[in-house]
Amino acid sequence: MKLYKANIIFTREKDHFEVLEHGYVGVEGGRVVRVATSAEAFGDEVEEVIDYGDRLLIPAMNDMHVHAPQYRNQAISMDLELLPWLMNYTFPEEAKFSDTRYAKRMYSRFVRDLWRFGTMRSAVFATIHLESTRLLMRLIRDAGMGALVGKVDMDRNAIDALHESVDEAVAKNEALIAEWNDPNGLVRPIITPRFIPSCTPPMLRACGSLAKKYGLPVQSHLSENPSEIAWVQELEPESRNYGDAYDRYGLFGQTPTIMAHCVHTPDDELDLMTRRNVMVAHCPTSNLNVSSGMAPIRSFLNRGVKVGLGSDISGGHDLSIMRMMVYAIQVSKMYYRRDPGQRFLTLSEAFWIATKSAGSFFGRVGSFEPGYEFDALVVDDSDLNHDNYSLLHRLERFIYLGDDRNIAVRFCRGQQIPEPPVFD
Ligand code: GUN
Ligand code: FE
Repeated sequence: MKLYKANIIFTREKDHFEVLEHGYVGVEGGRVVRVATSAEAFGDEVEEVIDYGDRLLIPAMNDMHVHAPQYRNQAISMDLELLPWLMNYTFPEEAKFSDTRYAKRMYSRFVRDLWRFGTMRSAVFATIHLESTRLLMRLIRDAGMGALVGKVDMDRNAIDALHESVDEAVAKNEALIAEWNDPNGLVRPIITPRFIPSCTPPMLRACGSLAKKYGLPVQSHLSENPSEIAWVQELEPESRNYGDAYDRYGLFGQTPTIMAHCVHTPDDELDLMTRRNVMVAHCPTSNLNVSSGMAPIRSFLNRGVKVGLGSDISGGHDLSIMRMMVYAIQVSKMYYRRDPGQRFLTLSEAFWIATKSAGSFFGRVGSFEPGYEFDALVVDDSDLNHDNYSLLHRLERFIYLGDDRNIAVRFCRGQQIPEPPVFD
C-alpha cells in the first residue's frame, strides 16, 4: 500500500466537507483503502509514504458533458441561440472530423487540456465519424485517463456531411463496441443520439436497441432551449414531454443515462427523470452563452435526481470544472432571487456534485471513501495562501481564483498521469 500525505478534503455527503489536516490516504491496487490522521492507522502493509507537505489533496474532476470536436470553437461564436448556433457554427466544424489528421491535431489538444484542468473522467461527444472517434478513444486511453466516448448518431436536420444511414450508424457503433467494451476499461463507448431533432425514429430505435443489446450507457441533450422543445413536440407528437420522447425508444434510463442541460423541465418530465434515475449534466456556462436559461438544480437535488457538471465546450467556453462549480453557484443565486423557495447551492454541494455525484456514473469514483478509485489532484495553492487561510478557505480560493497552474499532480485510478502529448 502507498500512503499519500497532504491536507485531504473531500465530500461524503453534499452538506459538508471531510477535512484531514496533514492526513493520509492509503491506496492499494488503484483504490482507496481508507483515510486517517496518522500513518500508524495503516499497520505494517505500507510500502511507501509520499509527502505532499502543505498541499491540498482533493478528488479529481469529472466533466459529464463535453463535445471534443467543438474544441476549435471554444470561446468564439456565442452570438446565437441553440438551433441557429448549431447550424451556423457547430455542424460545419464537426464535419471537418472526416479528416483524421485534423482530428488528431484537435483531439490531442483537447485531451491535453482536460488533463491540465484535472478532469480525469469525462462523458464525451465525438462526431459521426468512426476513425476520428477511435482516435479520440486511443488518445484518452494512452493518456491514462477515463472517459465514456460517444460516436454521435444523427440522420436529419443538420448538414449533408453529418447525415448517415441507420445501418452505417449501427455498423460504426458495433465496430467500436467490439474494440472497446471491456467492463474494466477506463475508456468505453456510450450510445449517443445527438438529440431528438437530429435523429429519425428508426435512428432512435436503433440507438435504444444498441444500448439494450450491449448494456451500454446513453447520453444526449434534454430541454435545453424553448425552440428546441417546441420542435421536439412537433417531431414526436405522441410524446407527453421531451424526456418521454427518449423513453419511448429505450433511451431514458433503461440503461444508465446522462441528459445534458434540463433547463426547462416540466414536472412530468422531472417525475420521469426521477423514476428512471437519469443523471443531469448541468452546464451553467453553456446555458449562459447560448442564452438557454437557468436549470432548476435545487429541484433536482430535492428530488434526489443525480446531477454532475459539464463544460459543454463549445456552447460552454470554459473547460475547468472548478470554475464550473463557481458558475453553478452563481446561476443558482440568480435562480433563487427569482424564486426564493429554491435555496442556492453551497460550496460543499457544488463540490459534491462535481466529484462524488458525477463520479458515481463511472463506478466508485469521486470520493476518498474506502473502495473508491483513487482519482485525485494535488493542489499547490501557495500563491493564493498568503495569510494563513483555513483549509476550507484555501479550497474555496483555489476553486474561485486558481487554475491549472495550481494543480501539481494528477492521479487516475491510482496512476500518476503525466501531460499527454499534442500532435500536429
Ligand atoms: N443540442 C444538440 N447538439 C448540441 C450541441 O452540440 N451543443 C449543445 N449545447 N446542445 C446541443
Ligand atoms: Fe452539448
